[in-house]
Amino acid sequence: MTILGIETSCDETSAAILEKHDEKITLKSNIVASSLAIHTQTGGIIPENAAREQIKYILPVIKESLQKAFNTSDTLHQVDAIAVTYGPGLIGSLLIGVETAKTLAFVLDKPIIPVNHMIGHIYANWIENPNIEFPALALIVSGGHTDLLLIESHGNYKLLGGTRDDAAGEAFDKIARLVGLTYPGGPIIEQKAKEGNPKRFDFPRPLIGSNDYDFSFSGLKTAVLREVKSLIANHQPLTTDDINDICAGVQKAITSVLLKKTLKAAEKYNVKSLVLSGGVAANQTLTNAFRQNSQYQIPGIKFYVPTKNLCTDNGAMIAAAACYNFHQIPWRDVTTDPELYY
Ligand code: KG4
Ligand code: ZN
Repeated sequence: MTILGIETSCDETSAAILEKHDEKITLKSNIVASSLAIHTQTGGIIPENAAREQIKYILPVIKESLQKAFNTSDTLHQVDAIAVTYGPGLIGSLLIGVETAKTLAFVLDKPIIPVNHMIGHIYANWIENPNIEFPALALIVSGGHTDLLLIESHGNYKLLGGTRDDAAGEAFDKIARLVGLTYPGGPIIEQKAKEGNPKRFDFPRPLIGSNDYDFSFSGLKTAVLREVKSLIANHQPLTTDDINDICAGVQKAITSVLLKKTLKAAEKYNVKSLVLSGGVAANQTLTNAFRQNSQYQIPGIKFYVPTKNLCTDNGAMIAAAACYNFHQIPWRDVTTDPELYY
């Protein structure tokens, strides 16, 4: 089966061609057009700006994904089905992907499979490792979500907990802005943290000991704001050391909470596999901590994380989720759902 995956839920515009034959997955192309430069200028994503760029990119991106996969872009008929993100996300952005996918499905008379963006993130892991064993515990850490799910089999999952306020990626983005760093905050905080002392500031680890699997990061953001104000009152502006040490402290606090609660759930549900996904999973310090601690605390558990370009938003993960959960519906019934959860 050959699937075209389309992803436009936030600021990226992506299309991918993925083939699945029995248990073998081949990613033939995965094209991502980013409008990041525009969002860096505005310090974050302005939804209308994102959608205006996506309108320009969507058809060229699909064309390029076909060209790369088949050496010609005149091959849409070779695709067996079209998978598209229908939520959650920004309404204007989602509409561009969904309406494009519906048009293609109608014109080419191909099945269309709507995919939950968050489930897509999880399935980024199956592209490189199609034999992940169940039960699996999935931690999704993105700009909008911090969710823990127990997956018993393909399509059979249960939400164990989620964020009560800011998601992990959102915390990175907001804290970066507080210390004068550019959007997106995660990658730059990771870079600055390498030069910083994680022990200088004792930032809170919200809900680390709570008797559930929920997360909360807005208190961490407030603690950083308080620290920044007090540093500025002492000496203006923040020094390079101040910024590096805050970044190291924040990254450590976020990693500690995510790790502690995830491993607690992994032990309780006796899972065979632990799969990380979402933009924040691109953070090497975080994934190294997960790799080392999961092996140490739960011998035998297998840990998976997608390569960096499959952690952030992309069409390949949407195609992969559709391959393993092939539920087509008539194109007329496919609608966007910006608030979709699970
Ligand atoms: O999954 P994603 O690409 O989009 C959403 O679905 O939200 O995640 C974007 C988030 C942003 O908040 C960004 O700061 C964060 O992922 N991120 C990182 C890193 N790279 C991206 N966070 C921490 N460390 C990174 N290296
Ligand atoms: Zn995402």
